[in-house]
Amino acid sequence: MNSKKIVVTRKIPQEVLELLKSRAEVYVWDSDEESIPQDVLLAEVRDAAAIFTNVADSINKTVLDAAPALQVVATMAVGYDNIDVKEATRRGIPVGHTPGVLTETTADLTFSLLMATARRIPEADRFVREDKWKSWSPMLLTGQDIYGATIGIIGMGRIGEAVAKRATGFDMKILYHNRSRRPEAEAALGAKCRELDDLLREADYVVLMAPASQETRKLMGEREFSLMKPNAIFINSSRGTNVDEEALYLVLKEKRIWAAGLDVFEQEPIRADHPLLSLDNVVVAPHIGSASIATRTKMAMMTAENILRGLAGEKLLHTVNG
Ligand code: DGY
Repeated sequence: MNSKKIVVTRKIPQEVLELLKSRAEVYVWDSDEESIPQDVLLAEVRDAAAIFTNVADSINKTVLDAAPALQVVATMAVGYDNIDVKEATRRGIPVGHTPGVLTETTADLTFSLLMATARRIPEADRFVREDKWKSWSPMLLTGQDIYGATIGIIGMGRIGEAVAKRATGFDMKILYHNRSRRPEAEAALGAKCRELDDLLREADYVVLMAPASQETRKLMGEREFSLMKPNAIFINSSRGTNVDEEALYLVLKEKRIWAAGLDVFEQEPIRADHPLLSLDNVVVAPHIGSASIATRTKMAMMTAENILRGLAGEKLLHTVNG
């Protein structure tokens, strides 16, 4: 009976919480705004069999050490760079994640960010609200065309491909760079594979979709940004650690690239006094790629399912460590 304990590190949809409560003892850090403090997490996992986590927590060796009865960790995300998977694997703890259910929603956000950045929507919104609109003017808030432009997608996984599919509706030329060739994407979407440098030189929109890893750490730095065209726009909805933010700030400030749309940052939450936020040619969002009500609910449900399977000693729906 309800003897095992699940630690849920953030407020989750009620129906998902009810499901977990019907099967186990549940501790929930019931806040929408703040991450669970480290001392609370360390105290609560002491007798926990499962951790229901998210991208804002660090499930590192210290947390795993503090949880001797742990049977499963599941994150409400496709990315799992916040979890020490190597340590979990060494202890025989399966780590679950939520691929697939968030693909289309994240591609929607990525494309929205691209469009909002190209057409300067947040700046235009501020302009009207601040009562700066005096009369129609030919070059007022002019942006970049999307239709017919070239998009370069770095990381042609599920979400990259879904972004490419949206780009076909805008008659965009699609380039991609990926660890391996994607013949299906080439056939279905007319996407063309490029070396990274060639993609950066050719694309009007560089969209970074690569997962975070040692290999992709600061993948976009001074050298890479310098290869981009002056009218080019950089979009990142993958992970902030894939980008050298100091280099990005400089190329944007010096107008060596045209603009950037960012949903993710090296340090999250990014603070309002961060240099990037002083620039008008930067459009930002608070890591909301998968944030539709339906998708977040599906992600929470899938995470719960992973947890319940892990507690029952069954194979998780989606695991990152077998
Ligand atoms: C993920 O799933 O990895 C996102 O960053 C959060 O939706």
